[in-house]
Amino acid sequence: MSESLQDIARRLVVPQKGILAADESSGTIKKRFDTIGLPSTEENRRNYREMLFGATKAMHDHISGVILFDETIRQNAKDGTPLVKMIEDAGSLPGIKVDMGAIPMVGFPGETITEGLDGLGKRLAEYRRLGARFAKWRAAIAISKVLPTSGCVYANAHALARYAALCQSEDIVPIVEPEVLMDGKEATHDIERCHAVTEEVLRVVFEELVRMRVDLTAMILKPNMVVPGKDSGQVVGADEIAERTVAVFHASVPTVVPGIAFLSGGQGDEEATANLSAINRIKGLPWKITFSYGRALQAAALKAWDGKDANVEAGRAAFLHRAEMNGLATLGEWSE
Ligand code: 13P
Repeated sequence: MSESLQDIARRLVVPQKGILAADESSGTIKKRFDTIGLPSTEENRRNYREMLFGATKAMHDHISGVILFDETIRQNAKDGTPLVKMIEDAGSLPGIKVDMGAIPMVGFPGETITEGLDGLGKRLAEYRRLGARFAKWRAAIAISKVLPTSGCVYANAHALARYAALCQSEDIVPIVEPEVLMDGKEATHDIERCHAVTEEVLRVVFEELVRMRVDLTAMILKPNMVVPGKDSGQVVGADEIAERTVAVFHASVPTVVPGIAFLSGGQGDEEATANLSAINRIKGLPWKITFSYGRALQAAALKAWDGKDANVEAGRAAFLHRAEMNGLATLGEWSE
């Protein structure tokens, strides 16, 4: 019998494991490859992802699921093995990014709306056949002195809820990602403001999820942590970040939601691990709390690999290290 959506959701957030977000769009992966001077060709993208998914110990012990981009879910490793099969063979679940990106929102200067709902049911059915057990849709909410507007928050929350309902009807667990950005054009806001905005955004998102009849027991929330804006100059310790982040969840995340998996959003690798560990030191929370990191899991691996076959094992070792550290952080047991 195939596993229920609740089973899959719970598997994604088992202790010591988290999600590898390897779903960089063509534009984003080019930016990442630019940092090592590597051209973003289909072959290089394949080789990079094969390096990560072939990191057997990291994948098996610490990666519950991998979010893929459309190209990657259809790609094969050099020896012809589908990349999806490499992920499954490591005991991990394949997932897929299904939003079509955030574009400027008409009438709302400085804000974006995430597109991709039209025809989504059919695309999800195909992804399910290709092996995807879960999906991701990201909304991006910017903070400035006057943003976000309620119009932008509502439109993005509604799209997230329609996406989540469609996923569940196609036997796919939705990861619901309303990212309140820590960076951007005017990221000078302090942590109090991130706290208030994140709480409001999550409140609206859950209102819409309920209105669109999404089963809250069969989804994962992928939020930001409550942190100061990147250009605020404010320095805040991990314990305060943890307390504020958990306070926001108590105020706006229903306890039936099985799991919360954070994005890293531009935090440094160690910072993302330290903050996750501080959050998991707070005991007795109703949700399993883990990572769904892109940059914070991959940056060191990308650098060590450097686009060279000879460095594949060095890349895997760097990935394993971050995966192990974040695995400890799911238990609240990471320390410097
Ligand atoms: P970061 O951890 O790099 O923010 O990426 C996670 C992600 O999936 C963003 O949509």
